[in-house]
Amino acid sequence: MEIQAGLTWKPEYEVGDASMDAAHRDFVETVSSLLAATDAELPGALSMFREHAEQHFGEEDTLMRSGDYASAQCHLDEHQAVLASIREVQERVAAGDCAVGRRLARELARWFPEHTVAMDRGLAAWATKRRLGGHKVHFVSRLA
Ligand SMILES: [Fe+2]
Ligand SMILES: [Fe+2]
Repeated sequence: MEIQAGLTWKPEYEVGDASMDAAHRDFVETVSSLLAATDAELPGALSMFREHAEQHFGEEDTLMRSGDYASAQCHLDEHQAVLASIREVQERVAAGDCAVGRRLARELARWFPEHTVAMDRGLAAWATKRRLGGHKVHFVSRLA
């Protein structure tokens, strides 16, 4: 029997940016629906995931292009690679190959924690630093 890979939200996925964290919770929910979908539900679950991914990655891409974010290219490339896979898998699922849809769902569940920790966290830190004008904020030391 095959062990089903799952994806549930964990505190370590938080990147410290409210809007990115909200998008990431939505990612986890959407991929969980994809993992749990029956064959009949798979095309609809894939469409919902594609809609989510276009919005989520689009927002991060816009943020990266809005300034001199040094690590932008490999991050943009990863988003593009996922979107290209979704489009290809949608076509194959529509032609009756449900197994490839399930492989994509498992691959997304594996990919998300890595991507979030390695790439999204850095982007969130850069955006926060830019918003605060490059100054670190220390509250706790003043209260001691
Ligand atoms: Fe993200
Ligand atoms: Fe990202």
